[in-house]
Amino acid sequence: MKRIYLDNSATTRVDDRVAKTVVEYMIEKFGNPSSAHSFGQEAKYALDDSREKIAKVINAGVNEIYFTSGGTESDNWAIKGIADKYTAHNKKVHVITSSYEHSAIYAICKTYSKVFPNLFTVTFLSPDKTGLISFEQIKNEINKNTKLVSIMHVNNEIGVKNDISSIGKLCRDNNIIFHTDAVQSFTKIPIDVKAMNIDLLSASSHKIYGPKGVGMLYIRKKIEILPNQYGGHQESGMRTGTENIQGIVGFAKAAEIALNEMNDDIPRITKLRNKLYKLISKGLDNIILNSDLENGYGGILNLTFKGIEGEAVLLSLDLEGIAVSTGSACSTGQINPSRVLLSIGRTAEEAQSSIRFSVGRFNTDEEIEIAAKSVIEAVTRLRSMMN
Ligand SMILES: Cc1ncc(COP(=O)(O)O)c(C=O)c1O
Repeated sequence: MKRIYLDNSATTRVDDRVAKTVVEYMIEKFGNPSSAHSFGQEAKYALDDSREKIAKVINAGVNEIYFTSGGTESDNWAIKGIADKYTAHNKKVHVITSSYEHSAIYAICKTYSKVFPNLFTVTFLSPDKTGLISFEQIKNEINKNTKLVSIMHVNNEIGVKNDISSIGKLCRDNNIIFHTDAVQSFTKIPIDVKAMNIDLLSASSHKIYGPKGVGMLYIRKKIEILPNQYGGHQESGMRTGTENIQGIVGFAKAAEIALNEMNDDIPRITKLRNKLYKLISKGLDNIILNSDLENGYGGILNLTFKGIEGEAVLLSLDLEGIAVSTGSACSTGQINPSRVLLSIGRTAEEAQSSIRFSVGRFNTDEEIEIAAKSVIEAVTRLRSMMN
């Protein structure tokens, strides 16, 4: 059975060109960048070169890129690194974020507001009808303690794209630090941290055909943020520990390829995603489109199939080798509806009936046709069982 992978927002297959580089840095150029000998210097050169490649994607300075273990660490660091500057001195700090951020932001904000109930306050904004967080909503919530705004660029479940440029400008004008979680948009949508007034930005390698366990936090030169790990001198003392060289080099190679090929990759992916929607919506009624096909990121299609469980669709497709996802979170044996879908106005039942398809670089026309046919069959069969 040929398997079809339509879960590219969860993770991606490593590109062969990246895998080759990663292996090279595991078995040949495996030195520690801190070592003075040629093995170490070879690794140090690769580290510097990788930082340059990553910086280029977002028009940052090389010294503004800090490698981490991935998007979760970068997101956590952005919140903790700013909040702790205040809480550590018994000072108040207010953060504005949204109710549909990834759990790497959402959970740390919830946790901090419990740990520091009198010092750390957070406003979770709900998206408007179009699924976006507006500049005006943020403006209305700013108070004298607001030190940080964290709003994601592209939402991982529905693919909507926030106008981070106008949010960045608002924050800069009000002297508030602006962080954006760009895990789903990095190398997929052009980003210029200078033009967009971004102070902190998170990205992750495994969403862009690079290896897992590596990512970065961009920290604008003028931003004061506490270190994330204490120890040696690595990452300018901000995130210490021997560098994950093979991961970093792989991440940079993946970013370089994605940047060079963005103009081919993204329109092709968007076309495939649109084809998938066209075929499914032609074959089925009673579906709700949860993605913005015009303005959102072109690789994500989120659909509600009214009257049936998304989990049941996922399992049916999995039996045929087709991988998709539901946004539902599984906790203590119960399936909870997606927080993201609830936040854009879906009922709990509708949210539980939803599937996210995420198209990537390696998908083909033929795969889309097979997947659409299987979705139509699975949904029709499951609905007939409900009657
Ligand atoms: C928007 C967003 N932020 C953060 C993360 C976490 O990234 P990582 O898996 O690299 O920890 C993800 C991963 O799903 C994501 O989609």
